[in-house]
Amino acid sequence: MDYKDFGLVNTKQMFADALRHHYAIPAFNFYNMETLAAIIEAAHDTNSPVILAVSESALKYMGSDLLRGMIWGLNLKDSNRVALHLDHGSSFESCVNAIKLGFSSVMIDGSKLPFESNVALAKQVVEYAHQYDVSVEAELGVLSGIEDERTKSDFSSYTNPDDVVNFVNATNIDSLAIAIGTSHGAYKRKSDDEELRFDILDDIAKQLPDFPLVLHGASSIPQHFVKTINEYGGKISNARGIAVSQLKRAVKKNICKINVDSDSRLAFTAGIRETMTKQPDNFNPRDYLGAGKKNIYENCIDEIKNIMGSANKI
Ligand code: G3H
Ligand code: 13P
Ligand code: ZN
Repeated sequence: MDYKDFGLVNTKQMFADALRHHYAIPAFNFYNMETLAAIIEAAHDTNSPVILAVSESALKYMGSDLLRGMIWGLNLKDSNRVALHLDHGSSFESCVNAIKLGFSSVMIDGSKLPFESNVALAKQVVEYAHQYDVSVEAELGVLSGIEDERTKSDFSSYTNPDDVVNFVNATNIDSLAIAIGTSHGAYKRKSDDEELRFDILDDIAKQLPDFPLVLHGASSIPQHFVKTINEYGGKISNARGIAVSQLKRAVKKNICKINVDSDSRLAFTAGIRETMTKQPDNFNPRDYLGAGKKNIYENCIDEIKNIMGSANKI
């Protein structure tokens, strides 16, 4: 099925506008009806373009038929400027499968492969995806995960600015995810004054002016959600995100897609925990899931307005 039949768009025009006007398109991950509805309602109510991101494990969790049914049920038009994106596609086959399901954008994540293999894989995906007008994101440099014990001196994990022009030219990708010190999960920094590597971002932007760059692992980890979770029986210690000021600084440069998942996970969990604890006799899932959904909705609106700068950009 063609993504255009779902009223979806690819990311080309989105990124061109974002680059020209110095804002970022939010890429919010979702995994069920509540998370999808919260994101779509927030984008609609702020008049913001949005990228709906689905990881391979989220696709497996929802099931492709249910996912397609939910996207169909959104009744989108291309004027809504919504893209459906495969997040961290791990293989050519996974990207092909997503494109066949109706995704308008895919990420092929060969970031852990040697440079030449990363190029070859990204190129293969681009050649297939572009036949269907589907956008492709690839990544250079490695972000650390939740459990990694990365230190700031681990320079090899950052994107090497000397590689980017070769990579983009050799692959013909539409956007490039770079590693400048962000990481996935809720434990991103050891202290509040830890900064992103803007020197690397500047160097990359100099080599690739007018090319869309992507920041993964960009959750800001709102502390009020962490506090609520802990107040109502949770146990999350030392969670620390990327400072909002750092994200805003990145958006002013060539970062035109910002990936957020952990913030929504915290928002959802906080709403559920608070409702379940305050109303111990309530066993209606619509009440506690609804509270989680409301938290995601409010947080997406906040980030669209105060980090991405994408409100009223449709
Ligand atoms: O970048 C990774 C996303 O947060 C997706 O994580 O595979 O647990 O859905 P997941
Ligand atoms: P966070 O864990 O910072 O939300 O990152 C999400 C992400 O990069 C999805 O691809
Ligand atoms: Zn990511």
